[in-house]
Amino acid sequence: MRKALISKSQPVPQISREPSHTGGPAARPFVFINMAMTADGKIATANRTVSTFGSKRDLDHLYELRATSDAVMNGARTVELNKVKMSAGGKHYSELRLRNGLSELPLRIIVSGSGSLDSGAPIFKHRSSPIIILVTRRISKSNLERLRDVADHVLICGETAIDWNAALSQIRRKWNVRRLLCEGGAAVNDALFQSDVVDEVHLTICPKIVGGRNSPTIADGVGQQHLMNAIRFRLASVNQVRDELFLCCRRDRTRAPLS
Ligand SMILES: NC(=O)c1ccc[n+]([C@@H]2O[C@H](COP(=O)([O-])OP(=O)(O)OC[C@H]3O[C@@H](n4cnc5c(N)ncnc54)[C@H](OP(=O)(O)O)[C@@H]3O)[C@@H](O)[C@H]2O)c1
Repeated sequence: MRKALISKSQPVPQISREPSHTGGPAARPFVFINMAMTADGKIATANRTVSTFGSKRDLDHLYELRATSDAVMNGARTVELNKVKMSAGGKHYSELRLRNGLSELPLRIIVSGSGSLDSGAPIFKHRSSPIIILVTRRISKSNLERLRDVADHVLICGETAIDWNAALSQIRRKWNVRRLLCEGGAAVNDALFQSDVVDEVHLTICPKIVGGRNSPTIADGVGQQHLMNAIRFRLASVNQVRDELFLCCRRDRTRAPLS
């Protein structure tokens, strides 16, 4: 069974075309996560600064996934540490986006509950597409003003943590985001899993070991205390390209919880 899912001949990992969740006032975007991890499940080194351990193929995969998405989202620490721009990935991918019926550039969303996000981060120097910052009521007045100066929109959604159902439905309603790609980091991913709003996870497994209990993993927040609460996914595809594995897992809401 497992072997049948593995393909060495298919260089492009499966990309779902499911546009969104529909229906009712709670309509939200289809949420998918894309992360690269080492063979020991780490997404960065212990000092958190190095996370680009994937191949050129992995980078192309990231841009291909972005080219199916209306918006890209990152946590505040990822934006600061990785100096991300959340761009389309150049002319080739902008054109692919247009062919896919999307805008030339993805909307950019940053999560910073307390508003601690550095307004001098490189992303704010790239005025390519609108930037939305999600914050909570914990934000101070001065941080709110500071972020309003650099972002196109600051959305307050939640008291102490982002209320994802409210945030996602607003993002869908206000900006018509039907597919939202989250690219980490660990804390944001965990919060999305905790709210059970993740529909698909793309993982690139790279044959490196980083080790260390301080090296972040895919989801590092509070996590689940019991296995029965684990959020279940099913393996939709595995593609091997050279020495990396590209996995796609889809949320499985049909199976009973583990006991
Ligand atoms: N390998 C990969 O594919 C990959 C991809 C991305 C990132 N990374 C790595 O991941 C690491 C960063 O991950 P991280 O977990 O430290 O940081 P993160 O998830 O990027 O950002 C954390 C920040 O986001 C805000 N936040 C997260 N969840 C929230 C919630 N539920 N409500 C309100 N605010 C929330 C908080 O901002 P405030 O502090 O402002 O409240 C929090 O401090 C870096 O080492 C980076 O290199 C790896």
